[in-house]
Amino acid sequence: MSEPAKVALVGCGAQAKYALETLPLIGRQVSAIYDPIGPKAGQRLEGREIRALGPDGVRDLARDGAGAFLVCLADNRKKERLFNDCLAAGLEPVSAVHPTAVVASTAKLGRGLIINPLAVIQPHAVVGDGCMIHSGVIVEHDNRVGDFVNLAPGAKLAGWVSVGRATTVFTGAVVIPGVSLGRDVVVAAGAVVINDIPSGQTVAGVPAREISS
Ligand SMILES: CC(C)(COP(=O)(O)OP(=O)(O)OC[C@H]1O[C@@H](n2cnc3c(N)ncnc32)[C@H](O)[C@@H]1OP(=O)(O)O)[C@@H](O)C(=O)NCCC(=O)NCCS
Repeated sequence: MSEPAKVALVGCGAQAKYALETLPLIGRQVSAIYDPIGPKAGQRLEGREIRALGPDGVRDLARDGAGAFLVCLADNRKKERLFNDCLAAGLEPVSAVHPTAVVASTAKLGRGLIINPLAVIQPHAVVGDGCMIHSGVIVEHDNRVGDFVNLAPGAKLAGWVSVGRATTVFTGAVVIPGVSLGRDVVVAAGAVVINDIPSGQTVAGVPAREISS
């Protein structure tokens, strides 16, 4: 059987550290790490040199032996753009799902995810492309989590919650059953969300209310 394609990491911060930890555990090799923004090119991450992207952008990844990619960026919208660029360049999206994460057999996972240790994705939940699911996150039954969502450590989404594209739920926040979060919402650390939140709002507190940030 042929070896699985080597994976280029696009991004060199914390999400790349998670990927470097998890990918070898699931039998995937990293080809190289890139800083798509630029300032960390030439520095090192876990002993490996961080490279710049050339003028051809992600089309250069194959030059370094990659057939696959994982975008590792905290900015949800930048992550989405680079994900689409990599797909257009013909690379295969790969997910780094830590072996201690629990994913129900009826849950559906998208492409290009990072799922960290001890996260739990419950039955009939759907998680979109490019999501970052940090350690200890709970995505309960029948959730609909959109593409490029970031769920920070210990965030808890109760049953039937829906989360719009590129939304972030920060550390330890709780969303009660049936609530809908729009697109590009930010839920502050420790918030308890009890009402639907329109797209673009940042909310904080218990119960969560809009803050100006
Ligand atoms: C939501 C968040 C990003 C907002 O940050 P910000 O835009 O810099 O906001 P500010 O610090 O300017 O605060 C704006 C107001 O919201 C309040 N606020 C900010 N975060 C809050 C929180 N988590 N809970 C309650 N109130 C909060 C501030 O006290 C301030 O109130 P004021 O106007 O009455 O003084 C930030 O507070 C947060 O929760 N960060 C968590 C980051 C995290 O979990 N990262 C993990 C990555 S893995």
